[in-house]
Amino acid sequence: MPKPDYSKFESSRVNLVEPSPIRVMVSKIAQKSRETRVISFAAGDPDPDVIPRELYGELAKSVFEERKSVIYSPTEGLPELREEIASFMRGYEGVDARSEDIIVTLGGSQALDLIGKLMFDPGDIVIVENPSYVNTLLVWKQYGVKLIGVSMDDEGMKTSELEAVLKKLKAEKKTPKLIYTIPTGQNPTGLTMSMDRRKHLLEIASQYDLLIVEDTAYNHLVYEPVNVKPIKSLDREDRVIYVGSFSKVLGTGLRIGWLHLPSELVEVFKAAKGPSDMCAPVPSQLLVYKILKQGLFKEIRDRAVRTYKEKRDLMLQAIEKYLPGIKHTHPIAGMFVFLWLPPNISGWKLAEELLEKRGVAAIPGAPFFTDESGLNTLRLNFSMAPKDLIEEGVKAIAELLA
Ligand SMILES: Cc1ncc(COP(=O)(O)O)c(C=O)c1O
Repeated sequence: MPKPDYSKFESSRVNLVEPSPIRVMVSKIAQKSRETRVISFAAGDPDPDVIPRELYGELAKSVFEERKSVIYSPTEGLPELREEIASFMRGYEGVDARSEDIIVTLGGSQALDLIGKLMFDPGDIVIVENPSYVNTLLVWKQYGVKLIGVSMDDEGMKTSELEAVLKKLKAEKKTPKLIYTIPTGQNPTGLTMSMDRRKHLLEIASQYDLLIVEDTAYNHLVYEPVNVKPIKSLDREDRVIYVGSFSKVLGTGLRIGWLHLPSELVEVFKAAKGPSDMCAPVPSQLLVYKILKQGLFKEIRDRAVRTYKEKRDLMLQAIEKYLPGIKHTHPIAGMFVFLWLPPNISGWKLAEELLEKRGVAAIPGAPFFTDESGLNTLRLNFSMAPKDLIEEGVKAIAELLA
């Protein structure tokens, strides 16, 4: 018998599956780095040298002294970690959080996937910022949703445009399921939503009886003294599903994130998560628990903020110097600067040639958009590349563009 025709065995859901451009680029970078040095402005990782890995090593020793480190934890996470996360949310974010409403997840990624799985039916409408975090868009598309994008400016999602969209949908007798926002240091733009817009968004959600998913992945990488209190901290009607992650400060490799849910939703999320992963990795849960319990988070975060602020400034200065006139964002938080190239330039093509010809990795902005409006955009990460290579990388972009 010849090998089977596997397409015959695939579910129709396969048609909804697309690869993430970030993962595709990361594989290409890995390949390219075998031949030559690569300056990476691609993935949204923290700088491994900013993370106190030696300290983690010492903590890991005490982690593995505990018998529970090598067996399953409850699906919803270790109770002591959930307590610490609730206290973290109360202390750092002004959110009146309860540990019972927290589920520890495999990064924010699993939290977002669970939301898709449990809240969306095929054909449901979901409102997102345009552009928005590509992996959320991709994973939610796997549940058959229709995404509607609302554009952004320096104050984040344009809530007046959101109102117009909702009004139009209402006239068509359509109700979206929820609104997804990354209010602080948004991915991919680096933009931060103003406090007025945060309040307005919540008012709109109340008026139209919608839920908000607030993705706080970058809430603790903030470089200017601005008020970035989460929308959840203003939420009096329990309309906000809060997605948290320790990835960007403590390390993406730890895979620890969480959901803070309205109490009514906790049981079904736990039940759906259990058979799929049993629990988030217990050594990582214990490590994060120890970091929080021993009050080490602030020091780790402060060091990251100091370093990334410097790196952001180096990148912005290089952009001003080598790419004058190119429209770009001026992030006060997060890990990314977003560029609008001349209209005839394809971000895809530029990113490919940059890696191939100049050994510089960047992510095309197009897949972050819900429409065709971002074909000429590029996302640059500034946290990962060494300080002394940032200028050289930006210069290479300018030279290739020229
Ligand atoms: C906005 C946003 N949400 C969620 C995630 C998921 O990260 P993790 O699963 O590591 O928490 C990322 C990672 O880049 C992100 O940018």
